[in-house]
Amino acid sequence: MNNFTYYNPTKVYFGRDTIKNIGRELRENGIRKVMLVCGRQSIFSTGVYDRVSASLVGWHVDFIRFSGIQANPILSKVQEGIKLARQQEVDAVLAVGGGSVFDSAKVIAAGVKYDGDVWDLFTGQARIEEALPIFGVLTLSATGSEMNGNAVITKADENKKWGIGSRHLYPRVSIIDPEFQSTLSARDTVNGAVDILSHVFELYFDGSKNVELMQEYSEAIIRTVMKYIKILLADPDDYEARAQIAWAATLALNNSNGTGRRGGDWASHDIEHSVSAFYNVAHGAGLAVVTPAWMRYVYQEDLETFARFAEKIFNITTGTQEEKALQAIEQLIKFFQEIGAPVTLKELGVQYEDLEKMAENAVQQRSLGRLKKLQKEDVLTIYKMAYK
Ligand code: NZQ
Ligand code: ZN
Repeated sequence: MNNFTYYNPTKVYFGRDTIKNIGRELRENGIRKVMLVCGRQSIFSTGVYDRVSASLVGWHVDFIRFSGIQANPILSKVQEGIKLARQQEVDAVLAVGGGSVFDSAKVIAAGVKYDGDVWDLFTGQARIEEALPIFGVLTLSATGSEMNGNAVITKADENKKWGIGSRHLYPRVSIIDPEFQSTLSARDTVNGAVDILSHVFELYFDGSKNVELMQEYSEAIIRTVMKYIKILLADPDDYEARAQIAWAATLALNNSNGTGRRGGDWASHDIEHSVSAFYNVAHGAGLAVVTPAWMRYVYQEDLETFARFAEKIFNITTGTQEEKALQAIEQLIKFFQEIGAPVTLKELGVQYEDLEKMAENAVQQRSLGRLKKLQKEDVLTIYKMAYK
């Protein structure tokens, strides 16, 4: 096990009827005026907005609304939010929505405190030195953004979907009430499940040694998500299934699963982000396509872990390590198909002639891969394998 420092300052309220705590938490944190950041429509129809605003009013916290954050959130909208937050002199941001809303709220919080163009924080031209306090009410469990310091934003004019991470971007408080996720479409629910699995895969397959506890922990998350997503598809109102998946999502990417490891691989994520940047596909849908192709490209780098995955997740006990690994990847693709996730780039509407520029784009922000270092040509091969 590698040495590690574990840091996670987010206080989580989890479960039914927990949204009511948001007003008190803001008040107790000394917040008098907050910018409520939200998406396009869902929080108004699900009743979440009413609950949140009632709690804010009840605790005498002033708020302004900044709505219309889209899935795959864009930089220009974030810049608009920074301007508004400054004009209105808010003390904090409150994300109410899914990962896109959380990520936008985080970057607004950092941008308000930074004098230059907020994109500098993504390019490495500047570091995040501070941010407004961030609070959140989560309505879609997938990204783990509710309990991590990461954010992903798209600079649409340059097709750059890039991430940042900072200790200043952890929410102080996040509220997760799974009951308010029963309104999610089957597609968004499935995309969320795939994203959770992918976060675990990025860590599980990063080539770390002597991380038995973390491998067992990962397998528990994988099995839980694979079991409960099927239950949810049959009954979207099943609270227990929503709850299992919701907490799995948080644990998959709140750094706990990364302890003692080498830092995760994350190539599949960067390769997917380039797909979303060009085609605006949902992150989870892109991952369902890219991840198995990445696995087929790299599995020989760590046959032992891929064979273990085959045994522990799919009960594949016969054959060589290589045969087990390949069978497990096939089983994973089959599972994605069973839950209605896309498995080829073609299904996502990607044009074959764009693969080259997507590969070029995927390697722009940082070098890719830990299990296997990937260059542009490797990424292009993975895209071709995922195309079919
Ligand atoms: O805009 P509204 O109307 O709210 O609709 C949203 C959106 O269309 C809808 N939705 C959310 N909660 C709902 C609901 N619909 C019905 N009932 C509810 N309770 O769901 C749609 C998708 O929302 P979005 O926030 O885009 O999804 P998700 O949470 O999957 O976030 C994806 C974004 O997060 C990034 C992804 O790249 C993508 O941009 N990621 C962020 C990470 C992080 N911060 O750690 C890590 C991830 O790997 C990922 O890259
Ligand atoms: Zn992800």
